Amino acid sequence: MHIAVINGPNLDLLGVREPGRYGTATLAVIERRLRARAAELGVELDGPVQSNHEGVLVEAIHGLRGRADGALVNAAAYTHTSVAIRDALLAAGVPFVEVHLSNVWAREPFRHQSLLADIAVGVVAGFGAESYVLGLEAIVHHVKASRRSGVASRGKSAAAPARRRPRTPPRG
Ligand code: DQA
Repeated sequence: MHIAVINGPNLDLLGVREPGRYGTATLAVIERRLRARAAELGVELDGPVQSNHEGVLVEAIHGLRGRADGALVNAAAYTHTSVAIRDALLAAGVPFVEVHLSNVWAREPFRHQSLLADIAVGVVAGFGAESYVLGLEAIVHHVKASRRSGVASRGKSAAAPARRRPRTPPRG
């Protein structure tokens, strides 16, 4: 199973950026934690990608189609503004968990709106760097559950339908 990680603007400054709000872990530290957890879960971590440019993020998301089984997306400020990133995620058709270090609903009203949340499998916010690890666990759980039920994965290419166990013939 391949899980991609997409990070939006200013997340390259984690560790020095508003540490009281976002914590002191750098993106590199978060990625190491994610890799360790991915190894325990037996999944491959693709990327991670970080960009401060919307178009670069859009193209990175296009690249997930047919490659990634799921994704963690912290689009940062673009979460609240970017129709382009929303459309790219819809086009890629890869199930994703929206991740935020901070609890965006406990912050300024303009952060309460996400253009991605309604097309995400779910949202994890407010746990600092741990949000990423929780998000990884959640998307892996989702992809496994989808595979069991035969629902699409990897850019919506139809997965093989779940095989039914043969019925045990009635006794007697
Ligand atoms: C963030 C929350 C966003 O509102 C903000 O613009 C960010 C980081 C978070 O991880 O808490 O850059 O996505």
